[in-house]
Amino acid sequence: MAENFDLVIIGGGPGGYICGIRAAQLGMRVACVEKRGSLGGTCLNVGCIPSKALLHASELYAHSAGLAAYGVKTGKVSLDLPAMMEHKNKTVSDLTKGVEFLFKKNKVTYIAGAARLTGQGQIEVRLNEGGAQVLNAVHIVIATGSEPVSLPGIEIDEERIVSSTGALALKQVPKHLLVVGGGVIGLELGSVWARLGANVTVVEFLDHIIPGADRDVGKNFQRVLKKQGMDFRLSTKVTGIDKTGKGLKISIEAAAGGAPEMMEADVALIAIGRKPYTDDLGLELAGVATDRGQIVTDPHYRTNVEGVYAIGDVIAGPMLAHKAEDEGVALAELLAGKAGHVNYGVIPSVIYTSPEVAWVGKTEEQLKTDGVVYKAGKFPFAANARARVAGDTEGFVKVLADAATDRVLGVHMIGPDAGNMIGEAALAMEFGASSEDIARTCHAHPTLSESLKEAALAIDNRTLNS
Ligand code: FAD
Ligand code: NAI
Repeated sequence: MAENFDLVIIGGGPGGYICGIRAAQLGMRVACVEKRGSLGGTCLNVGCIPSKALLHASELYAHSAGLAAYGVKTGKVSLDLPAMMEHKNKTVSDLTKGVEFLFKKNKVTYIAGAARLTGQGQIEVRLNEGGAQVLNAVHIVIATGSEPVSLPGIEIDEERIVSSTGALALKQVPKHLLVVGGGVIGLELGSVWARLGANVTVVEFLDHIIPGADRDVGKNFQRVLKKQGMDFRLSTKVTGIDKTGKGLKISIEAAAGGAPEMMEADVALIAIGRKPYTDDLGLELAGVATDRGQIVTDPHYRTNVEGVYAIGDVIAGPMLAHKAEDEGVALAELLAGKAGHVNYGVIPSVIYTSPEVAWVGKTEEQLKTDGVVYKAGKFPFAANARARVAGDTEGFVKVLADAATDRVLGVHMIGPDAGNMIGEAALAMEFGASSEDIARTCHAHPTLSESLKEAALAIDNRTLNS
């Protein structure tokens, strides 16, 4: 028999589950359909959380080698990879079960199965436990996320040629890991395996890594990763991978074309981006419009079909968990007649390597392209007392402010704990702060956050500690 809901969400990732909880808080009768067998989507199961668990554990392992410099003597440190993976798996399962608990607490109905649009306000679910169920909904939200992109002619087997999912579960440390794509996934997971002992080579199509980040930061980041042992082949493309032998034989050539070259590796990680996932959703039948795979929405997340909405990785914008979550909240509030809104100009990005890279707002390159006259203030972590205490002095903070109004337009960091510190910059920008506002705010001493204050002071050439 069909069940009736105010809102049915397809996909239990950060977009879908947060939308469900907020809508239930606002009094709607909500169901969330998820086919994976656990809630939390890509982020909790095979994305943000397992990658950060391995980044954290591998950083502890790498740091332990240098503890003697702090007067801490240890015995010989060795790697227990199965235990490291177990820590990751337990963190994931605790958090995914946590989302089930949140659903119960907020009275969101969790339906484990694959959903398909079958008619106006109607969804059919192929239940994971067998059988089918029909759901009627006033509103339907598609939050089905994204999946990795592969290279033409190269099949991902998740053992020797892996996407991020396989790279999060390797059974042994590869001697040589080839990473295709110098973006966020390639550099985070490349760092994990480099710290655990792999030789890592990153092949990047463009002439710089992390496109989208401020170039100044990107250059510094590449230099630091190189010092950590990662090798880079920029302006280079992979044209084929032969896995018939024991190792992988990889053909590469210059991005612009040229003589082919061969490389060898045990494992290749393909990390060249992700694409929206809408398989078997019945989009065509329902008439939902897409553009290059993305579901097309208006600023209120409405698709072209009455009563059908979409949020998260499956629509335009950065593929980030916090962006998906904020869209989930905004949409639930709009559906409840409130003024839901996401400020796309202030969405922070973080790369959780060591040092971390974080930014919010415009890069120098974007400001130049837009013809905005700006001032830049920069402060190195080498001049920050807390960074020196920790021996973590790599990197800097850079504040970009409008030359005429002093309004902060962008903040870029590479350094210790940059991912946490960028929150202050995002808050300042959300409130329309000037660099003067940040410079006049009292920051505790000795903290890393004093570097943000000093970078704001640097806008007026009046740093106090450098
Ligand atoms: P997803 O999280 O992809 O969830 C969609 C869910 O829908 C999936 O569980 C899927 O099974 C389900 N689904 C699909 N079709 C159906 C159907 N027909 N019926 C039922 N269920 C269906 N972002 C960050 O902000 N920070 C990070 O540190 C970070 N690290 C990442 C690391 C990796 C390795 C990867 C791959 C991604 C990372 N991301 C990170 C990106 C982040 O995971 C995504 O942006 C986020 O998960 C998108 O949320 P979503 O709700 O749109 O989709
Ligand atoms: P990405 O878009 O960050 O990077 C892909 C890189 O591959 C780019 O540098 C691109 O120039 C390069 N590339 C593309 N085609 C290539 C080719 N044929 N040969 C060589 N290089 C090629 O994508 P990535 O790293 O796969 O991540 C996907 C998404 O997941 C990102 O959008 C990101 O937002 C999200 N993510 C976020 C994280 C975070 O917030 N810390 C962590 C991991 C993923």
